[in-house]
Amino acid sequence: MKNLTPPPEKRTTVIRGSGMYVPPQIVTNEMMSRFMDTSDDWIIQRTGIRERRFVERGIGSAGLGAKAAEAALADAGLGIDDIDFIVFATMTPDHYFPGNGGLLARDLGMKTTHALDIRMQCAGFLSGLQTSDAFIRSGMYDRILLVGAEVHSGLMPWPQSVWDVMLGTSPDPCDPGWYAKATRMRDRAVLFGDGAGAFVLEANESGDGRGFLSFAMYTDGTHWDKLYVPGVGCKSRPYVTTEMVETLETIPIVEGRQVFRLAAHLMPEAVREVLTAHGKTLSDLDLLLMHQANLRINEAAQKQLGLPDEKVFNNIQKYGNTTAATLPIAFHEAKLAGRIERGDLVGFTALGAGLHWGAGLVVV
Ligand code: ACO
Repeated sequence: MKNLTPPPEKRTTVIRGSGMYVPPQIVTNEMMSRFMDTSDDWIIQRTGIRERRFVERGIGSAGLGAKAAEAALADAGLGIDDIDFIVFATMTPDHYFPGNGGLLARDLGMKTTHALDIRMQCAGFLSGLQTSDAFIRSGMYDRILLVGAEVHSGLMPWPQSVWDVMLGTSPDPCDPGWYAKATRMRDRAVLFGDGAGAFVLEANESGDGRGFLSFAMYTDGTHWDKLYVPGVGCKSRPYVTTEMVETLETIPIVEGRQVFRLAAHLMPEAVREVLTAHGKTLSDLDLLLMHQANLRINEAAQKQLGLPDEKVFNNIQKYGNTTAATLPIAFHEAKLAGRIERGDLVGFTALGAGLHWGAGLVVV
């Protein structure tokens, strides 16, 4: 089985710029407890999440992605004409089709750039990095705009009246029927947030050792039903029914404990693999950025790897799980915080529905 990236030759892929965008509306755990039986204590203890962002109605992940992309282009000091290719990772596209890549091109005014859409949930951005690296190393493209963006605030079917209770704009308490329904989804409802992150990736032929060294990526489809949406699929006839909506088949099934165990075990394993492939050890690693699904998963993974706190960076406390956007948002914030500098060896790892998982290694 061929999996690891071949050893880097002269042409590598560097992260020239990064950017992020999160909507301004903060939704705290206390705000969630206004419409379901949950508490700040439970959510913090089990997940580490303190708050998340929800975007206003009518704005989709393509729009959030466009703002992150503009920030990344500005950070790179480049414009749209400098970009050869777009890769857009999301599990919450604006439309069933077309995908978000074309919508992003429309929003940014890019008319001659080809775009690829990735549907790989929490592993989407990592997979986008691997794909972009392969395109750049092959000489096919010189600069790629890679975007990960999600609007999860619609994942749970809250009507406007529930939002009004949550935001405190309604003087009435939550309708008891909705309170009971929301409580049935509480294990999933508290986990997710909206946000977007983007990288401008560029070919580097200077031979200075910077760039992506390796990826180790895996899929185990036998675990597909640990994390999936039972309704709203094209195997159903019709694709969507009102019954699916009423019986909550439109929201994800999450085998939380099993996913937790798999993530805490498989992410560290992939990190060790990419390091070993390049004769590196954990002590060579300057920073590890993990997908932000649950702070407790990342603490378990950190412990397995024996990494000190200064070698990991988590921000799930502020944003919840933004799926394809967690890695670029974490990278960008870590960079702004002075935790990533030129020449640092940085690891990325993620696991998500599919199951897809893996790790990547870059000299920044
Ligand atoms: N507030 C209060 N109580 C809650 C909540 C809540 N939000 N959610 C669940 N509970 C209760 C349950 O009802 C249960 O009560 P009971 O013992 O009376 O039955 C109790 O808390 C324990 O519930 P568990 O589901 O066993 O809690 P667990 O400790 O496993 O935590 C969680 C659940 C947070 C989902 C955890 O399993 C997890 O993070 N798993 C992995 C995360 C994951 O899969 N994320 C999705 C990735 S997204 C992607 O790839 C698209």
